[in-house]
Amino acid sequence: DPHLARDVAASLRAIPDFPEPGVLFKDFTPLLLDVDLRNRVSTDVVRRYDGAADLVIGIEARGFILGSVIADRLGAGFVPVRKEGKLPSQTHSVSYSLEYGSATVEVHTDAIQAGQRVLIVDDVLATGGTAAAAVELVRRCGGEVVAVEVVLELGFLRGRDKLAGTRVNALLTD
Ligand code: PRP
Ligand code: MG
Repeated sequence: DPHLARDVAASLRAIPDFPEPGVLFKDFTPLLLDVDLRNRVSTDVVRRYDGAADLVIGIEARGFILGSVIADRLGAGFVPVRKEGKLPSQTHSVSYSLEYGSATVEVHTDAIQAGQRVLIVDDVLATGGTAAAAVELVRRCGGEVVAVEVVLELGFLRGRDKLAGTRVNALLTD
């Protein structure tokens, strides 16, 4: 699909000063609204991992949306990685630092079996803290990370540096 990156780029809506002054937020809700474009995105992702993933992780909250679409298309189970305190059963927990303070993400300990191949999906790779924490959660369960797949990578934030040794693919890099 030679024009996919171009069309995804055109669909992202730039919102100045959200969620705080000075940040140019890239809103991907128009992509979700466009059935044809959304299908092209999942077809592109599925082509890369067909038969290669047993499970798909979606990272709360925006990673849930494309993650579940892709899990469905791959015929793979879906595993939510959630923010602290949201998952009801026993969890593994990983904390990571943000610009100010820290955040914690969790996964159910029994969601991933040893040796299962897991694709991690999110909307944006920024500093890489969130994706790296998800990778660590998979390892704690004994799973194997196939790749981290995102719609948009903010290359200047060097998130890939936190994901050394993990395959990372972005539909689009800013
Ligand atoms: C955003 C985005 C990614 C993460 C990327 O999520 O959806 O998950 O930040 O940032 P990083 O690479 O610097 O870790 P956010 O935590 O804002 O929450 P949301 O998905 O629930 O809106
Ligand atoms: Mg997010």
